[in-house]
Amino acid sequence: MTSNRKSPHELRSARWLGPDDLRSFGHRSRLMQLGYSEADFMHKPLIGVLNTWSELNPCHSHFRERAQDVKRGVAQAGGFAVEMPSISVDESFTKPTSMLYRNMLAMEAEEMIRSHPFDGVVLMGGCDKTTPGLVMGALSAGVPFIYLPAGPMLRGHYAGKVLGSGSDAWKYWDERRAGNISDAEWLGIQGGIARSAGVCMTMGTASTMTAIAEAMGLTLPGASSIPAVDSGHQRMSADCGRRVVDMAWEGLTPDKIVTASAVHNAAIVAMATGCSTNAVVHLIAIARRAGVALDLDMLDELGRTTPLIANVRPSGKDYLMEDFFYAGGLRALMKQIDARLDTSCLTVTGKTLGECLEGAEVYNDDVIRPLSNPVYAEGSLAVLRGNLCPDGAVIKPAACDPKFHVHQGPALVYDSYAEMKKAVEDENLAVTPDHVLVLRNAGPQGGPGMPEWGMLPIPKALIKQGHRDMLRISDARMSGTSYGACVLHVAPEGFVGGPLALLKTGDIVRLDLPNRRLDMLVEEAEIARRREAWVPPAPHFERGWGWMFSKHVTQADKGCDFDFLERSFGRAAGEPDI
Ligand code: FES
Ligand code: MG
Repeated sequence: MTSNRKSPHELRSARWLGPDDLRSFGHRSRLMQLGYSEADFMHKPLIGVLNTWSELNPCHSHFRERAQDVKRGVAQAGGFAVEMPSISVDESFTKPTSMLYRNMLAMEAEEMIRSHPFDGVVLMGGCDKTTPGLVMGALSAGVPFIYLPAGPMLRGHYAGKVLGSGSDAWKYWDERRAGNISDAEWLGIQGGIARSAGVCMTMGTASTMTAIAEAMGLTLPGASSIPAVDSGHQRMSADCGRRVVDMAWEGLTPDKIVTASAVHNAAIVAMATGCSTNAVVHLIAIARRAGVALDLDMLDELGRTTPLIANVRPSGKDYLMEDFFYAGGLRALMKQIDARLDTSCLTVTGKTLGECLEGAEVYNDDVIRPLSNPVYAEGSLAVLRGNLCPDGAVIKPAACDPKFHVHQGPALVYDSYAEMKKAVEDENLAVTPDHVLVLRNAGPQGGPGMPEWGMLPIPKALIKQGHRDMLRISDARMSGTSYGACVLHVAPEGFVGGPLALLKTGDIVRLDLPNRRLDMLVEEAEIARRREAWVPPAPHFERGWGWMFSKHVTQADKGCDFDFLERSFGRAAGEPDI
C-alpha cells in the first residue's frame, strides 16, 4: 500500500483547498473563521466524522465523547477531522417505524460525503437502521471510510435475573398479560432492562448488522463486539481515527473492500450468529448498492448450510452480547468458520480478513460453540415460496417451536394492526392453537415503511390457556430480538396486491418448512375471482418524504432501497464525483 500513497495535492480535499483562486480562498478563509490555522488543515487528509448522536437515541448516547476520541486519533495520524451530524434514525422512538427513514439516512450520508471535501470518513452508527443506512450511503459516495460500531449495552439486570433487550420485554409482557407480574416488578424490569449506552445486547438487528459490517471488512478487527461503555471502545474509536487517515493516503475506497466475496462472507457470518431477519433486507440492499448479486435463494442456501454457533439470545438460549465479547467476540466466531470464508478479502485495515483473524481464540466454548457442537446445525434463516409469497417470505426456524415447522390451520386475517390488536385482546375471540394469525398491509408501502409488527401478539384467549407460540404470517418485519413461529416479509406485500391481499378468514394455510413452502389451500379459480374483485387501498401519502418513499421503495426481497439509488442507476459516464 505504501508505494501507492497519494501526495497531498492528489487528495480530494486539495480540490477545495489547494488552488490559488477565489473559490479556494473562500474555503480556506471559512476554515480560519472556524478557528483553524493553515497548519491545521493544509496538505492533510480531511476526515469527516459522521455522527448519528441524538438525545433521543439512547443507543448512541456515548457518541458525543467517542467523536472526540476519533478526532484525537485523526490528529495524531496527521489528519484534520471535522464532525458532522447525521440524522439519527433511532429505533426506540421513531414512528411509524425507523425503516421509513433508513433510506433518508443513506441519502443524507451519500450526499454529505460527496458534497464536502472529505478524503476519508468515519461512520458512527449501531442502532438498527443506522448501520445499513450509513454503509449504503457511503458505498454510493465511494470515499474511503471506516465503520465505528456503537457497541452493545451491558447485560440487563433485575432482581437477580439477567434481562435481554427486546426478548425479555416480550416475554415478561406476556406474563403481565397473564396476570403474573405486579406493578412493582414491572417497574423494576423497566429500569433494569437497558442499563447503559449502547445498542440492544441480544443478537438483534443492531448486533447482527454491526457483525455484518465487520465481516465485510468495514470495521477494525473485533470492533463490533466491544461493549459501548468498555474503555476498549474509546481506544477503538481513536484507532478508527488513526487508521482512516492512512486509508485516505492509500486511496482505499470501499469498492476494493465490498466485493462479492466480502458480501458472501458477511452473509455466512450473519447466519452463524443467529441473524436477525432484518439482516436479509439490509444485506440485500447493501449488496445492490455495491453492485453485488445477492438474493433470497442464495441466503436460504447459506441458511441451510451454515451452523448457528453463537449461543446468544434470541436464537441461542443462554447468553448476551457482553458474554459474547468475553468469549472472544466476532473474531473468535469467524475463526471457527474461517474455512467457509474467503479470507483473502481486503479489510479497512489494509490487511486481509485472514490476517485480521490471526490469533483469535474462543475463551468460552459454550458461548461461541465449535462446529462440532453448534446451537443449531442449520436454520438461522429460511426462505419460503408458495402461492402466498411468490417473491419469497422469511422465517427464523431456530427461534420457533418445532411443532410449527409443518403446520396447517385456518387463517384469522386482519387488515390493520389496530384491528388485530383489538381482536387479540378479546378474551372471547374464537381462536384455537391451530389457527394462523395473519396481518397484511404492513409491508414497505402498506405499513408504511414495513414496521416491526411481525411478532403478532398471541391472542389473550390462548395466553390464558398457557400457549406462548402460534403460526403467524405478515408482510411486516419483526425485531431482531423477537422470536416465535413468525413468517415475515411476505412479498409482494398485500398493499400492492400480493396474494396475501386475497386471503380470507377461514381459508386453510399450510406451512411446510422442510420443503420451504407457504400456501393457501384455495382453488386457483377462486384466487383469480378474488383478484378480479380486489380494490387497491388508498395511498398513505399525498406529499413529502412518504410520497417519495411510496413511489420508489422496492419490495422486501429487493432490500427496500429506492430504485433510483441502486448501483444500476449510478453516475452518468464522465460526470465528476464531486
Ligand atoms: Fe437501538 Fe435496539 S433500540 S439497537
Ligand atoms: Mg431492533
